[in-house]
Amino acid sequence: MRLLVCGGAGFIGSHFTRVRMREHGDEVTVLDKLTYAGRKENFEDLAQERGFRFVHGGIEDPEAVARALEAPGEERSAPDAIVNFAAETHVDRSIAEPDAFVRTHALGTYVLLEAARERGLRYVQVSTDEVYGSIEVGTFTESSPLRPSSPYSATKTGADLLVQSYFHTYGLQASICRGSNNYGPYQYPEKLIPLMVLNALHGDALPVYGDGRQVRNWIHATDFARAIGYVLERGKPGEVYNAGGPDELPNIDVVKRILELSGADESLIEYVDDRPGHDRRYSLSSAKVRALGWEPRVRFAEGLEQTVSWYRENTWWWEPIRSGDYRAYYERQYGRALS
Ligand code: NAD
Ligand code: TYD
Repeated sequence: MRLLVCGGAGFIGSHFTRVRMREHGDEVTVLDKLTYAGRKENFEDLAQERGFRFVHGGIEDPEAVARALEAPGEERSAPDAIVNFAAETHVDRSIAEPDAFVRTHALGTYVLLEAARERGLRYVQVSTDEVYGSIEVGTFTESSPLRPSSPYSATKTGADLLVQSYFHTYGLQASICRGSNNYGPYQYPEKLIPLMVLNALHGDALPVYGDGRQVRNWIHATDFARAIGYVLERGKPGEVYNAGGPDELPNIDVVKRILELSGADESLIEYVDDRPGHDRRYSLSSAKVRALGWEPRVRFAEGLEQTVSWYRENTWWWEPIRSGDYRAYYERQYGRALS
């Protein structure tokens, strides 16, 4: 396929680009604004390959989107599908500064949908289990009510509804794939797992929100990337597909395992004030995307071990982050400096 991957310089978008180019021989144009979370380092291994192209710009900018949808050259045709990962993705940042979330999720998604409609392109929106809100027992299916609780999840929900309206109103060939919490290499260290790994490796305190008993449903980013591929190729337009990981764990269990794998001591754990409006538990049923042929390959125990090793070995990737603006973010968010 010839794909426009929006947000392909981010964590999951870069895994998706790698999976599609390496396993399917797809041509990929990445359109990315390169926010603090978007980094060329994430696709460094793909940048020189034939079939890869990068366009710098925001999805809310119609001119940038039009440029990204042009044929890249005489021998290559224009993309025939858009897969949209581009988003602001951190709940804590959405609580502190929601404006970029509204702009990118509402306006940005609208601009992409218009571009897809004008050109008759296939469209896949990458979304999240957080649109369903929190669930104490049981598991969300695609028909569960939408009850988002943070500015992040509320604006993601708005984008999903807009995507569905383009299917119903204009017949756009659009589907949505909602994932549970992702982890793996290349994840920006504001999120639970990479933050805790880097703090453990540096001997910094590990800030656990509230009682640490909140439960997340973990999926390896390569598994989510492949699920999105199934939805792209086999999913029905107008439909939503959930892709949840094979394991659910309370945060404190994840943190303790990270300490073990990093060779650090549990005395580094520090219970801090809870996140406002903190969702207690997420859990997704993936029966519908499994019916398309997908299944997760990576269990959490093995994936976490590999992820910790990746961060330990790839200092080139995170050193520029941990010595830059991230330090100021960390101080604002946690009220203490990193070592
Ligand atoms: P990320 O923060 O690592 O990457 C987001 C990327 O989008 C970055 O490269 C950033 O530069 C780019 N971007 C942001 N605003 C943009 C804009 N206006 N125009 C163009 N590019 C822009 O995020 P991620 O974790 O890779 O998440 C990707 C998608 O998957 C998001 O839509 C997110 O909601 C969804 N998702 C994430 C998770 C998770 O656990 N991380 C789980 C389920 C779904
Ligand atoms: P996060 O990685 O931010 O993902 P999400 O909020 O989208 O699930 O957080 C995962 C869980 O870890 C969530 O319950 C909040 C918790 N958490 C902490 O306890 N401490 C932290 O420093 C962070 C970033 C998260």
